[in-house]
Amino acid sequence: MVEEYCRGCLEASAGLALNPVPDSVFSRMAACFPWNGSKLEMCRTVLRDLVGCGVESLVSWGSITLPWGRVLGKGHASIVSLGYYDNRIVAVKIRRTDSKHKSFQSEGILQESAWRAGVAPRVYCYRDNVIVMDLLEGIPLGDLPVLTKGDVSVILSSAYALDKAGIHHHEISRPWKHVYLTDANAVIIDFGSSSYGYCRNLPSITGSLLRRVGIEISESLKSLLSTYKHGCNSRLYLSIRDFVLGYFN
Ligand SMILES: Nc1ncnc2c1ncn2[C@@H]1O[C@H](COP(=O)(O)OP(=O)(O)OP(=O)(O)O)[C@@H](O)[C@H]1O
Ligand SMILES: [Mg+2]
Repeated sequence: MVEEYCRGCLEASAGLALNPVPDSVFSRMAACFPWNGSKLEMCRTVLRDLVGCGVESLVSWGSITLPWGRVLGKGHASIVSLGYYDNRIVAVKIRRTDSKHKSFQSEGILQESAWRAGVAPRVYCYRDNVIVMDLLEGIPLGDLPVLTKGDVSVILSSAYALDKAGIHHHEISRPWKHVYLTDANAVIIDFGSSSYGYCRNLPSITGSLLRRVGIEISESLKSLLSTYKHGCNSRLYLSIRDFVLGYFN
């Protein structure tokens, strides 16, 4: 049945199977998602990038069910599979054949900087079609029934850390699936739309968090945020944080 779904994927990957290959059909399907008969060359390139990064195997596991197996996540640019790499269990982001992004190179670089700033999953390897990273722990903000003062404090702290690292996430204004709360901190994912830029994440996420609890940003908070955008001043950050925390229990 799997072979019928994607016979071409198997042909495209002949001789390029991951090694060892406990689940090779799955790996080939993942490299060709969504299957489109004209994209054989891309499937081969994706498999090459998986092998080139040292991914030992991909494993069918996760909450998203596709016709040929399970994955951890699915977006417009990628599917994210569980995998083995260097004796570790990792998450492998694999570029979709229909992704509008041509390469994961800049996403890999930016996520690596965000990891160094302590707010993104560690990146082990990236190529045009693949990012190998730590498996996410924690809960996406969208799945939290309520946001406590403690939650908001770590979320703002991660947004500030990203600001100081000079990364503009661009999609943090929709944090519900891009920010995960762990026991230790708030982790940010998906740097596919990100660029270099300073002091924009804290203002964006502040607006979203307040909107979520039905509060309009006051003129005084607006003014603090607008001054903050010029240089991410640490004292201003603390004032903004205290101001926002006042709205939460
Ligand atoms: N490191 C990880 N560990 C576990 N699951 C992950 C990891 N990274 C991403 N995921 C899952 O995969 C999903 C898609 O990831 P991501 O948002 O990076 O993909 P995308 O294709 O860029 O999505 P979008 O369409 O939003 O741009 C996430 O919502 C999450 O559920
Ligand atoms: Mg994306």
